Amino acid sequence: MHNQTHNIKYPIILGIETSCDETAVAIYSKNNGLLAHEIYSQVDLHNKYGGVVPELASRDHIRKLLPLINTTINSANLNKSDISGIAYTKGPGLIGALLVGATLAKTLAYSWNIPTIGIHHLEGHLLAPLLEDTKPSLPFVALLVSGGHTLLVEVQKLGKYKILGESIDDAAGEAFDKTAKLLGLGYPGGAKLAKLATKANVNIKNSEKYKFPRPMLNKPNLDFSFSGLKTAAINTYNKSDKSEQSKADLAYYYQEAIIDTLYNKTKKALAQTNIKNLVIAGGVSANISLRQKLDDLMQSINGKLYLPKIEYCTDNGAMIALAGYLRLNNNQQDQEINYNNLDNNINNNIVLPRWNLTDLTEINNYII
Ligand code: KG4
Ligand code: ZN
Repeated sequence: MHNQTHNIKYPIILGIETSCDETAVAIYSKNNGLLAHEIYSQVDLHNKYGGVVPELASRDHIRKLLPLINTTINSANLNKSDISGIAYTKGPGLIGALLVGATLAKTLAYSWNIPTIGIHHLEGHLLAPLLEDTKPSLPFVALLVSGGHTLLVEVQKLGKYKILGESIDDAAGEAFDKTAKLLGLGYPGGAKLAKLATKANVNIKNSEKYKFPRPMLNKPNLDFSFSGLKTAAINTYNKSDKSEQSKADLAYYYQEAIIDTLYNKTKKALAQTNIKNLVIAGGVSANISLRQKLDDLMQSINGKLYLPKIEYCTDNGAMIALAGYLRLNNNQQDQEINYNNLDNNINNNIVLPRWNLTDLTEINNYII
């Protein structure tokens, strides 16, 4: 990664992620990169409801976040006085869940007399490959595929994000989750559906039987649509004998249709921008078949693929700590709250449940 010499004012950053159903905390440092990261997943809490229940998520973050911060600081062998800044996910996400992280971040920062910075969750995902030894070179195209978003982004400079295409309905992760639920795999089911797909009977007869559409592929733009695919899955499933083998076959061909769509649009985006570096990030980037297919694509065009480790694909605190480290050391931080005149802060949104990635500002100076 291209570096510029720069004074590091905030060498050790605590990162907090609470935008959805993962309570996650990490510490990123100037000298040694990631020092510790801890994740407490609420999956078991929400599983029986077939999706995330926002109020339960907020309450569980309240219970788990402070102890998890203590654990993380201890496992990094640090004291709280070593922390020089706190980054938290400001949005997008569930409002109550975000408020827990933001409020605790600001409270701790006030008592420790250090700055805070609110981070865009998707920027966190997008910068996660910077946690690896081989850092992506600029410019790059990023395929961001999570439970809530499916985006192709052109990144000429860190912090400057141009949306090339996005889903007009369901996100790719949502498409995985909904069909996983249909197949009785529970929530979230992306990884489980992928596992079931490995047991499929792959042959010409089945490829005809489980013929799923490739939505939007004949459209010239780079947008995606996954809701039709989900409907096709419901119809196919209802017509099938619902045996374990049929479920595995359906999972395989369904996954293939999602991956094929992501692959083709990504290929178009690279050709259109004439960029040969690709970053993939977000929960669905943990999918092995997708990683392999995009790896083949990048080899065929002599390009480079940058992937976060599986544990930094899904929601985590490391990506937030890293983004916070970059932004705090680029002279950006939250405005201080005036505790003597709280009425004046009323318009100062502490979290942004909806927040466009394109509203972010460039990170000019960074060293990593
Ligand atoms: O980024 P993430 O942890 O949370 C959001 O910000 O949404 O992404 C979660 C999504 C879920 O939809 C989950 O089913 C999906 O990522 N996912 C996968 C895999 N692992 C997680 N989808 C397909 N294959 C996987 N191996
Ligand atoms: Zn996420």
